[in-house]
Amino acid sequence: MDIKISPSILSSDYANLEKELGRVSNADLIHIDVMDGHFVPNITIGIPVIAAIKKVCDIPFDVHLMISEPYDYVEAFAKAGADIICFHAESEGNISATIDRILFLGKKPAIAIKPDTPVDVVLPYLDKLYMVLVMTVEPGFGGQSFMERVLPKITKIRELRPDIDIEVDGGVDFSTVSLAAEAGANVFVAGSAVFGSACPSDAIETLKNNAQAV
Ligand code: DX5
Ligand code: ZN
Repeated sequence: MDIKISPSILSSDYANLEKELGRVSNADLIHIDVMDGHFVPNITIGIPVIAAIKKVCDIPFDVHLMISEPYDYVEAFAKAGADIICFHAESEGNISATIDRILFLGKKPAIAIKPDTPVDVVLPYLDKLYMVLVMTVEPGFGGQSFMERVLPKITKIRELRPDIDIEVDGGVDFSTVSLAAEAGANVFVAGSAVFGSACPSDAIETLKNNAQAV
């Protein structure tokens, strides 16, 4: 499996997004956290900001929707420049219909599950999904601690689908990246570990090397 690093701009300087994206030019994906203040107790950025930064960044956008009604918004996010559209299994609306809508729009569908959500909820959809996001913190905020207890869910998905992208998000740093890779993840979101570092591009290389060394 290809190892991919997806820095989360949640931990970047929102006053200087173009410059911040320039500091992670070696990233494989750009992780964009969209929060609606309803599905999660925080509000971040949305469609117009994604459309604006799409004009200054060639790296594919990995858009993590932490919103209540993803079906209603996937078209707008697709038009704004999302490449991977990831929505939560716990959100309202029909999961199959949402996946089909994303595919119809020519984008890559992914489902995210919170730490306490059983892995079984994504299993019926694995054949249609481009990626599964296994959250290793409660969604809503950057800078939380990695939950190791979530790792068996990753291993289960990897056993069933050796070829699918499995992303981990939350508390990924130079050491926890190895735990997640050992469990079977190959796509690593990192907010604080990348943008909190003096040299974000070096942090990306270190994360990648540590994941590859497993
Ligand atoms: C949390 C977000 C994460 C967040 C991760 O709800 O989904 O993407 O940015 O931040 P760190 O890497 O700092 O835990
Ligand atoms: Zn995220």
